[in-house]
Amino acid sequence: MAEVLLGVSGGIAAYKAIDVMRILQRRGHAVTVVMTRSAQRFVGPATFAALSGRPVGTDMFGAERSPGYGHLDLARRADLLLVAPASANTLAHMAAGMAGGLLGAVHLAFDGPVLVAPAMNTRMYLHAATADNLALLRDRGVGVVEPGTGLLADGDVGVGRLAEPGDIADAVEARLAGAGTLAGRRVVVSAGGTREPIDAVRYVGNRSSGRMGWAIAAAARRRGAEVTVLASNVELPREPGVRYVEAPTAADLHRATLDAFAGCDVLVMAAAVADFRPGASRAGKIDKSAQGSFAIELEPTTDILGDLAPRRAQQVVVGFAAEHGAAGLERARAKRVRKRLDLIVHNDVSVDGIGFGSAQNEITIIGADGEETLPRMSKEACAERILDAVVPLLPA
Ligand code: CTP
Repeated sequence: MAEVLLGVSGGIAAYKAIDVMRILQRRGHAVTVVMTRSAQRFVGPATFAALSGRPVGTDMFGAERSPGYGHLDLARRADLLLVAPASANTLAHMAAGMAGGLLGAVHLAFDGPVLVAPAMNTRMYLHAATADNLALLRDRGVGVVEPGTGLLADGDVGVGRLAEPGDIADAVEARLAGAGTLAGRRVVVSAGGTREPIDAVRYVGNRSSGRMGWAIAAAARRRGAEVTVLASNVELPREPGVRYVEAPTAADLHRATLDAFAGCDVLVMAAAVADFRPGASRAGKIDKSAQGSFAIELEPTTDILGDLAPRRAQQVVVGFAAEHGAAGLERARAKRVRKRLDLIVHNDVSVDGIGFGSAQNEITIIGADGEETLPRMSKEACAERILDAVVPLLPA
C-alpha cells in the first residue's frame, strides 16, 4: 500500500479525479488530495475530503493559522505525486518551478516519482508552449500519462481527453512497483534506426523514431540503473544522467554494441538496424544528369544480436520484432530462439496508430516461460512492462 498525493487542477476533467482516487483506494492505496484554486470551481473540496477521509489541501496558508509548513509535511509523507487532471496552467507552473500555490510548492518539495495526466482543449495541448513544458517535465523524469483522442467537453474533436482513470491508476502502480528495481545495474539500450549512405547526402533508412528505446532508457534510469543509449539518428530530447553514444550506421552500432556489451547487465536492442547497405557508398553527390538510371547493389550487414550470442555471460538480452501482419507473432517467437534472446518484444507494424513514430504501442512480450499480450498503451507504459519482465531474469 502506498501513500499517493493526488493533485487536482482546474478543468472539466476534475470530476474524473474522483474515479482515479476511488480506483487507487480500491487497490489498497491511501490518497491525499491537493486542489488548485480553479479545480475548486469544478469540484468542491468537501467531495474529495469525504471520499478520501482526509483533509484536502487547498492553499498555502491554512484557515486555522497553522504554521505554514503543510506543503513539506504533505511531500514527506507521500510515495508518489500524481497530478490528474494536469491543466496547461499547472504544467506550466510545474515546468517553471513556481511555488505560489500549494500544489506547486508540494511539487518542488517532493523528491519522489511524479506522474502527470494532462487534460485540456486540443489546441492548448498542441501549443508549442505546452509541448515544451511537457518535454521539460519528461526530461526531469516526470511520467506522462498521455491524454486520449476523442470528443472533448468543448465540442472539439482531438487529443486532450484525460486518460482513462483505470489507465492512470495502472501507471501509478507500475511506477511504484518499479522504483529502485534496477539500482546498480548497467543497462544498454539501442534506439532509433540506422542509415546506410548511398552517397554523401543520401541514405537507405527506416521509419524508426527512437521513441520506444528512449522510453526504455528513461524508465531504466528512474529505476536506478546506469544507462547507456546507443542512438541511431534520434532527434528526441536527451535525458540528463544518461550516457549517449552516436551510432548512425549499422556498422557503427555493431561496434558500439560490442564495446558496451561486456560490461552491462541488460541489453535492450530496440534499434531498427538496416539488414542491407549499399555495397560501396559513392564519394560526393551522385549527379542525376550524368547517371540516367542505375542500380544500387546492397550487401548484408552483420546481425548484431547474432554476433553477441557467443559472447553472452550473465546479461539479460532483449530484442524487438516489428513484424507485419498476423503471422508475425510466430516469426517473433522463432526469432527469439534463433537469436538466443531472453525476451523479444513483438509489435505488428501493419496496425494504425502504433509503432513507428507514434506515442503508443501494442506489444507482446515473449520469453522462454510464456508470453504476455498487452493492450494498446503509451510507449512509457510499455517500457515499464518490458522492464518488469527483465527484472526477475537478472542474477541476484
Ligand atoms: N538486429 C540486429 N542486427 C541486425 C538486424 C537486427 O541486432 N543487423 C536486432 C534488432 O535490433 C531487433 C532484432 O534484431 O532487436 C530483430 O530485428 P529484425 O530486423 O526483426 O530481425 P532480422 O534478423 O532482420 O529478421 P528478419 O529475418 O525478419 O529480417
